[in-house]
Amino acid sequence: MSQESLQYSPEAALKLLPAGRISTLESVLLAAREETLVDVDLWQSGSPIPAEKKPLDAAFIQWPEELLADLQSNGDKSLVVRLEACGKRLQESADSVVVLGIGGSYMGMRAMFEALRSPYHNEQSRKTRCGVPRLYFEGWNVDSDQQQVLLNLLDQRAEQHPNSVDGKTAVIVISKSGGTLECAVAFRTFRELIERRFPKDAQQLIVPVTGDSGRLRDLSNAAGYEDTFSIPDGIGGRFSILTSVGLLPAAANGMDIRALLRGAADMTEHFRNAPFASNVVLQYVAVSHAFEIDLGMTTRILSTWGSQLEAVGLWYDQLLSESLGKHERGATPLTVVNTRDLHSRGQQHQEGRRDKLITNLLPGRPQKPPITVPKHDLDQDQLNQLAGVAMPRILQAAIDGTNKAYADERRPTADLVMPTINEYSLGQLFQMLMLATVVEGRLVGTNPYGQPGVEAYKKNMQANLGIK
Ligand code: PA5
Repeated sequence: MSQESLQYSPEAALKLLPAGRISTLESVLLAAREETLVDVDLWQSGSPIPAEKKPLDAAFIQWPEELLADLQSNGDKSLVVRLEACGKRLQESADSVVVLGIGGSYMGMRAMFEALRSPYHNEQSRKTRCGVPRLYFEGWNVDSDQQQVLLNLLDQRAEQHPNSVDGKTAVIVISKSGGTLECAVAFRTFRELIERRFPKDAQQLIVPVTGDSGRLRDLSNAAGYEDTFSIPDGIGGRFSILTSVGLLPAAANGMDIRALLRGAADMTEHFRNAPFASNVVLQYVAVSHAFEIDLGMTTRILSTWGSQLEAVGLWYDQLLSESLGKHERGATPLTVVNTRDLHSRGQQHQEGRRDKLITNLLPGRPQKPPITVPKHDLDQDQLNQLAGVAMPRILQAAIDGTNKAYADERRPTADLVMPTINEYSLGQLFQMLMLATVVEGRLVGTNPYGQPGVEAYKKNMQANLGIK
């Protein structure tokens, strides 16, 4: 990979497996990689998809490379530049942007927002935010009280700043099917606010991102919104973070979407070409799989060291559970944030059932100058012995101490290390985890695409409401 790369280091976990165990998986993992890549060719060929492969949503694999090639050849007309232009337009016309969506149409952008923006972003002045709008998420639940609070807040802003960008709200409504009830109901309420408060600008302030057909597409056509972006066929919801689903809100939030795509494209290239022993995707799957089938470790803890990465973990929880939680199989993902959760779940990880493989997700270099422990005349807390010690050093002591405590109890840990948190490394991480999920599906004979189990609740919910 061209810049600093994501590293996977499972050495501590491997001490708990017989020597050479991972090498025994080489041929089946290479076959799973081959199948994953052949699926891309099958998708691109336009040939009929065999029944056992349906649904086949393999187009996410080469998508970042395709977008970068489109940028190179088509410049201003490329999708990347059109997304950047729309993002800029939204930044200039609204100080609050609400992203409406659920599942794969929501979790990716939330992951990027929490990873790349200050947790206090929305509380800062427009100047401190360098003109980057506030960002809110709705439509991911049916919670009247919560939605009301946001609607009231935005309504008050419009009231207080009637003629300025400070009072303006834009809405990016995202639904691939265009019919998901949670999102559709939220769109009705937020559309009402926009049309009532900003009747002349509503067509510019609402941007749908949806499939090429469906109710939201029909509505967008009828309403004549200035911009509507498509979610391509062949990319399923939870694999869509690097389509307009994630890229438009990211661009509206001032993120470097080209770097995100470069990170992902570099990871695909690495996945395709790196040999088994140094292939981050294949090694991650091999280790996870070995612990699951040899030792019954069916719970996969993603242990994030820093709250910035918690929503990345929640995105991964969805990815793994909706992709592989089928046919009464599939590991259970669980995201924790440390050191917070060492004071809650940590007890169970140390002494509970031996069903857990822990992967530490490490954030790499801090982005800001580190805080150091101040010296004080009142030393009753006995912390002058740490005076001048930087907080990252304290965190490292916690990481090392936790790993040792687990190792002493024969609890497996592996490390997934980001060089630092930025768009490029997040692009790598997202693509790596998506590829790993698909490879594991092919390895165990579970189609990772589609989520037929989710339909049952939707059907009952609609029937309960008398919806046709
Ligand atoms: O992974 C998936 O496909 C799902 O989680 C969907 O993203 C989710 O159900 C939302 O669907 P839609 O974008 O059609 O509203």
